[in-house]
Amino acid sequence: MESGIGEKLVFAINGERFELSTIEPSTTLLEFLRSQTCFKSAKLGCGEGGCGACVVLLSKYDPVLDQVEDFTISSCLTLLCSLNGCSITTSEGLGNSKDGFHPIHKRFTGFHASQCGFCTPGICMSLFSALRNSEKTPRPEPSPGFAKLTVSEAEKAIAGNLCRCTGYRSISDACKSFAADVDLEELGLNCFWRKGENRDVSRLPFYSHRDGICTFPEFLKREIKNKTLLNSKECSWYSPVSVEELQSLLGSEEADNWTRVKLVVGNTGMGYYKELDHYNKYIDLRHIPELSIIRRDSTGIDIGAAVSISNAILALKEESKHGPQSYKEVLFKKIADHMDKIASEYIRNTASLGGNLVMAQRSQFPSDIATILLAAGALVDLQIGTKSLKLTLEEFLESPPFDSITILLSVRIPFWEQIRNDSSKTQSRLLFESYRAAPRTLGNALPYLNAAFFAQVSNYKDCDGVILESLQLAFGAYETKHAIRARKVEEFLTGKLLSVGLLFEAIKLLQGIIVPDDNASHAAYRSSLAVSFLFDFLCPLVDNGDEIPNGGINGAINGFPIDAKVESTYDKLDNTIRPSLLSSAKQVVEVLRDYHPVGEPTTKTGAEIQASGEAVYVDDIPAPKDCLYGAFVNSTRPLARVKGITFKSSSIPDGVVGIITVKEIPKGGENIGARSIFGTEPLFADDFTRYAGQPIAFMVADTQKHANMAANCAVVEYDNENLEPPVLTVEEAVEKSSFFEVPPFLNPKNVGNFSKGMAEADHRILSAEIKLGSQYYFYMETQTALAVPDEDNCMIVYSASQCPENAQIVIAKCLGLPHHNVRVITRRVGGGFGGKAIKSLPVATACALAAHKLRRPVRIYLDRKTDMMMAGGRHPMKINYNVGFKSNGIITALHLDVLINAGISEDVSPVIPHNMIGPLKKYNWGALSVDMKVCKTNHSSKSAMRAPGEVQGSYIAEAVIEHVASTLSMEVDFVRDKNLHTFESLKVFYEGGSGEAFEYTLPSVMDRLASSSNFHQRFEVIRQFNCCNKWKKRGISRVPIVHDVMVRPTPGKVSLLNDGSVVVEVGGIELGQGLWTKVKQMAAFGLGQVLLDGNCSLLERVRVIQADTLSLVQGGFTAGSTTSESSCEAVRLCCNALVERLIPLKERLQEKMGTVSWDMLILQAHLEAVNLSASAYYVPDITSARYLNYGAAVSEVEIDLLTGATMILRTDIIYDCGQSLNPAVDLGQIEGAFVQGIGFFMLEEYLTNSDGLVVSDSTWTYKIPTIDTIPKQFNVEIWNSGHHQRRVLSSKASGEPPLLLAVSVHCATRAAIKEARKELLSWNGSDASHSTFQLEVPATMPVVKELCGLDNVERYLESLLSNQQKLNSSYE
Ligand SMILES: Cc1cc2nc3c(=O)[nH]c(=O)nc-3n(C[C@H](O)[C@H](O)[C@H](O)COP(=O)(O)OP(=O)(O)OC[C@H]3O[C@@H](n4cnc5c(N)ncnc54)[C@H](O)[C@@H]3O)c2cc1C
Ligand code: FES
Ligand code: FES
Repeated sequence: MESGIGEKLVFAINGERFELSTIEPSTTLLEFLRSQTCFKSAKLGCGEGGCGACVVLLSKYDPVLDQVEDFTISSCLTLLCSLNGCSITTSEGLGNSKDGFHPIHKRFTGFHASQCGFCTPGICMSLFSALRNSEKTPRPEPSPGFAKLTVSEAEKAIAGNLCRCTGYRSISDACKSFAADVDLEELGLNCFWRKGENRDVSRLPFYSHRDGICTFPEFLKREIKNKTLLNSKECSWYSPVSVEELQSLLGSEEADNWTRVKLVVGNTGMGYYKELDHYNKYIDLRHIPELSIIRRDSTGIDIGAAVSISNAILALKEESKHGPQSYKEVLFKKIADHMDKIASEYIRNTASLGGNLVMAQRSQFPSDIATILLAAGALVDLQIGTKSLKLTLEEFLESPPFDSITILLSVRIPFWEQIRNDSSKTQSRLLFESYRAAPRTLGNALPYLNAAFFAQVSNYKDCDGVILESLQLAFGAYETKHAIRARKVEEFLTGKLLSVGLLFEAIKLLQGIIVPDDNASHAAYRSSLAVSFLFDFLCPLVDNGDEIPNGGINGAINGFPIDAKVESTYDKLDNTIRPSLLSSAKQVVEVLRDYHPVGEPTTKTGAEIQASGEAVYVDDIPAPKDCLYGAFVNSTRPLARVKGITFKSSSIPDGVVGIITVKEIPKGGENIGARSIFGTEPLFADDFTRYAGQPIAFMVADTQKHANMAANCAVVEYDNENLEPPVLTVEEAVEKSSFFEVPPFLNPKNVGNFSKGMAEADHRILSAEIKLGSQYYFYMETQTALAVPDEDNCMIVYSASQCPENAQIVIAKCLGLPHHNVRVITRRVGGGFGGKAIKSLPVATACALAAHKLRRPVRIYLDRKTDMMMAGGRHPMKINYNVGFKSNGIITALHLDVLINAGISEDVSPVIPHNMIGPLKKYNWGALSVDMKVCKTNHSSKSAMRAPGEVQGSYIAEAVIEHVASTLSMEVDFVRDKNLHTFESLKVFYEGGSGEAFEYTLPSVMDRLASSSNFHQRFEVIRQFNCCNKWKKRGISRVPIVHDVMVRPTPGKVSLLNDGSVVVEVGGIELGQGLWTKVKQMAAFGLGQVLLDGNCSLLERVRVIQADTLSLVQGGFTAGSTTSESSCEAVRLCCNALVERLIPLKERLQEKMGTVSWDMLILQAHLEAVNLSASAYYVPDITSARYLNYGAAVSEVEIDLLTGATMILRTDIIYDCGQSLNPAVDLGQIEGAFVQGIGFFMLEEYLTNSDGLVVSDSTWTYKIPTIDTIPKQFNVEIWNSGHHQRRVLSSKASGEPPLLLAVSVHCATRAAIKEARKELLSWNGSDASHSTFQLEVPATMPVVKELCGLDNVERYLESLLSNQQKLNSSYE
């Protein structure tokens, strides 16, 4: 064997050596970690590089330099074979419960930065990598306890990681706490210091870069000194070291087989294409020197095709650092900055430049790199067989797709001097700029359109004007074949003196060129972006006196002083200005000791093991012997007869063990997959499928991958003959009277006399319409279950469920078993948000059915696409309203007709009308009448999602208020204020739920918020800003919420063990919402009553254990925000019973011995046969079962009129939490819910095709908020509204209501758009006094831009031209 070549794959994970001689080459590192090792901290969140749950650290050793290189990767895309000689560190490798946790884990815990914990290990690894790499910089040594990292680097390190629970503020604080330039005063609520205490780094878990973590073990260093490359027939993996060797490898294949050869670099392309093809041979291109070079000469820079995007960025930044800034350096810096927004760091670290361009050339990938390099005039070197070929990038992109064995060797970026057109004698300037418009500013989102422009310009000798000597205008990613040069525009402009008129003509020309393909989404918007970007690039060059603003998109705006804190922070370490994501945040909480330790902001139970990745979620449970795996085959039709299932391949796919359909339901069982109190839903389609996405079959195979592949290969035969058309819209449902019944007690009651109210009105708005779409849960852990057959026809099912009790019932019914034969166990759930209440049931039931049939354990972990297809999500609806109001803004009557799209089965939909009406009644409408219909349609059934119905109800109220205000041309806040309830009107609207007068805190909350946020003063500042800025507008809005909650009966059980430790079981499930933490505090408080001296804290003695349906019955749903408090109350009742039993014993012992310790008391109680286990079923009485929650938010946003981008500058929230059971937990709920609400109102489009099949089915198409989309200033106050007799220790719910507050962002956006429209109308010379418009939900970039005028640039230029004409004619 050649030296340096290995036939075995050798690598290390957390210092442990692994050696493999055979492995399926398509195996990813994540598959290996999760199925072949004990390291489960890397999680599968998406499998496509878009979430960061699987991030681990990859370390490579360079024996020549004796250096270790560490960087993050997405383990879901990295192929195991590419890791020969590498070392992997996962979060449990940083620290764990056995060896001690790492300071990262401890600080995440202390800053309350982990809720469900599913994202946490990946985020910890992103941060760890940033810390490690900062240590390698030549920056000065930071003070002890800190890293060389800057605050903005700390935030940016986790920009590609998604978290659906926390809202990121707490994560940001945990990360910043390591930064050398952090101001500790600015860090948020944590357990390391209390208010007023010294904020000293010594209070934080100590960090030193000498943390003892060796990312590259010595044994591997020794081993790889002479063996680094894997060339293995067994693994079908080859690592050629020269182009010749590569050619001979390819040459050895028959031409027919070329498609069976996979050239691979980072394999991140898999994240987009998700091809499941089988390849005979994998060829790793990273070891061929020509493909890995970065070489600079006097005419340009060559970058090898296999160079990672991160390394290309480094090289370009390095080049741009040299000497005084020349055009070349500017170019490199711009390219590097743009590349920094591609994907996320853990992708860029392995994704190659060449891979990107090949994807763009061959498969129409919407590449950023192709566009920017096209404008830079790049060239490519290709190897086709034995022939070398040099092409311009444009020729490369325009060639027919190259075959799979054409090799891209390198890319050349020529220096500008080469491009410069030197025909002119004038002194010319070279300019380069690049643009991208994407839903997330920092990347991790494909752009709607990107552009890059090069220009050589010179000053015109006779005036101040600018001549365009040469131009390269590139546009891409707008749903077209590939990036293109706008040649006609270039030619049109070249050699001309730039003027407004010329620019206008050029833009008109451009519009005819940048035309997305047929059926492209947002086609007109994308074209308008092209115009905006060209305008932004050229307008500063137009000689137009002071008329044209200097810079609109990227530049500073007309010299208006922008709050420096908001715009940027200054990195003290390397003297550069970097944008800060979360520039400041404030949390105001009050800690009450009345019920100590209840009320303390204690850290989340289990947060450390969540951070280290040791916390066990369902998919982390080791596979039992002979375990099988399932995957659903889903219908793609909304209504059709199912004739049969075949496979794409002629034979049954590899590994398949069984196909479970409706036919496998045993005798005595039922075809049931879900149930609620309103009805049931079948597990599988029977003869008919009734919605696109319905499970038709369940493929069972030996691995999850084989099961998924088999499900993908399945072809369902349908037949539509003689079938009625499906009901796909609510209008069709009305036509066919296709409704679900709403029980009378859930049907909203009218208030007052609507006709009378309308008659009293001075103005009326009739038949206004609102449409609201759906939202997907995007819990980071997809639906999952493991079913294990047990003795005597029993079944144990581990299910990630918000309602194990229901899972037990459904499984038992499906299998035809008594309920006691089914045990459902749920320990923790990686985020639920309502999506794991009903929707977890078919998943658990299908596994149980397959396990029952095959008599083997069966598990499933749904892939993200299937999860998104089956989830249903929030209810879409159509609202029609009539509203009457007085001229002074007082509303006298409101009528609503609401059509709710419930999908195919009831699920919990009949409750939606009731849920909607509660928050909608937050205003005094005078009279309110409603007609709500729950429509049955051929869609997946919609289910409860955090604040189900409530968020829509609250939104409708605001939309009506906004409409009234704009009709009257009044300030919206004034109209809100006018219609806010007095306590008297509150009582009329909420009847029994309104409580006592002192409990109605909303007016005080609103006033307090106005003052704490400087709401009224900021109006003036915003007005000034809007006057001074043409292309950016700001808006502000203050919005109140009222949220009605129900407290439901809940069980609890507390047992005291011999050693004094305490075991607690509750009906509620820990979803990340901190239920266990509050329950633990309550148990410690309740039991602490026996030892009135208060010296003994029992908190650490309490363990809350998993829900088990055979141990604690009547667990019910964990939903509706009140499960924590009701579980706490059940525990308190148990503790009371135990305390009552223990007190006589304690008194006896006290008499004998003086003091009595807890341990002694419990030991003695055991000896004296005291019953040390108590259970209780808390049933709230009529006066405690329902109450109202109050809160308010002020949000300020800035919109960009050229792109439609919205930036949330600041949000202030005050939320009435009663007496918080745990302010840290409640704060996390408030911030997390608010940010989820931002997703609903601003970002998340959960779209279906015309058949109702979900098309937003991946992280590529569904964008939840990231750290760069949250408010730049985020201030939250938890208001302690004092003693509430009928609440659980005076507490109030926090899980869902704060989500409603996010409507403030939407309303502020509307305010900003109003300003934009005013400006737009002023260009037309029209009266801009008022404008009424509907702002859709979500208010995405295309939506905002459309309302600001897709043609706003043209209209602006037209207005300038017409002004010029007027001016000229006045001179004549
Ligand atoms: C989550 C995510 C987000 C992304 N966001 C963006 C974005 O915003 N903008 C953007 O521009 N890109 C984006 N990308 C694309 C990313 O840049 C590419 O996936 C990456 O550069 C491909 O490089 P690779 O080394 O992983 O290629 P691989 O996946 O290894 O290969 C991709 C394809 O190219 C072929 N190939 C690779 N190198 C060569 C070569 N030298 N010669 C011939 N064929 C070759 C392979 O055979 C394969 O068919 C994103 C990717 C991910 C996963
Ligand atoms: S699972 Fe790898 S990035 Fe989402
Ligand atoms: S804590 Fe981040 S996803 Fe749940």
